[in-house]
Amino acid sequence: MPVTIRRATIEDMLCMQNANLHNLPENYLFKYYMYHILSWPEASFVATTTDNVGDLEVGFEELASSSNNSTSSSIATKCDPCYVRSGEKLVGYVLAKMNDDPSAQQDAALNGHITSLSVMRTYRRMGLAEKLMRQALFALSEVYKAQYVSLHVRQSNRAALHLYRDTLEFEVLSVEKSYYLDGEDAYAMKKVLDTDELLPANFQGSKVQDDLESDLLQESPESLQEGIQQITV
Ligand SMILES: CC(C)(COP(=O)(O)OP(=O)(O)OC[C@H]1O[C@@H](n2cnc3c(N)ncnc32)[C@H](O)[C@@H]1OP(=O)(O)O)[C@@H](O)C(=O)NCCC(=O)NCCS
Repeated sequence: MPVTIRRATIEDMLCMQNANLHNLPENYLFKYYMYHILSWPEASFVATTTDNVGDLEVGFEELASSSNNSTSSSIATKCDPCYVRSGEKLVGYVLAKMNDDPSAQQDAALNGHITSLSVMRTYRRMGLAEKLMRQALFALSEVYKAQYVSLHVRQSNRAALHLYRDTLEFEVLSVEKSYYLDGEDAYAMKKVLDTDELLPANFQGSKVQDDLESDLLQESPESLQEGIQQITV
């Protein structure tokens, strides 16, 4: 089941909101998603798949062409809000922003905030949340010059706590009493960002980086070089 991680766009917002409603009790108005994507268009990411989504493609086409109400309504049920577009299904997202609190001190360091993160249940424990988070942290640091990033997490949320504290090395700053509407306490967490450390290449299995100078042809197998020499233009 191949999954792509890419930057979130306006077209993804409804699906992100749907996933948020599905996975978390902390929900936001649609305009708050728009505020994120319009203000910090490079900070949020989605995980999507094109695997096993053919059925819906038929649904969209039929829906567009059908004038029969009963057919339309049965097809409409196929128009699952998980689908960003025909053939592409959203399976996870991270919604991130810069801290723009006007009450913050003028000389305070630029800092980012993770507003929301979730992965659909069948796609969990595959490393998607870690990848989404690493992309967002890198973007906040490189693009928006955030020096640190903060977030809140429920004390009972073992999965998220493991991800933030153990995998991504966030530190727990404090416990915020009754932070959530149901009265649960939150850990306020923070991570200092280092752009070089966060480079996506550091987390892609292979540590080999292109130095943009080496001539690849020098190291290619002889057979390949012969093949290249035979090419005539
Ligand atoms: C929390 C959540 C985003 C994790 O997503 P995920 O894609 O399954 O996480 P990953 O596969 O990237 O796992 C990252 C790490 O967390 C660990 N982890 C994931 N789920 C876990 C669980 N249920 N219990 C303990 N550890 C867990 C993984 O083992 C991995 O650890 P490792 O780096 O030591 O191997 C997902 O469970 C989710 O969407 N939960 C509901 C929404 C939510 O709680 N969001 C966070 C709000 S603050």
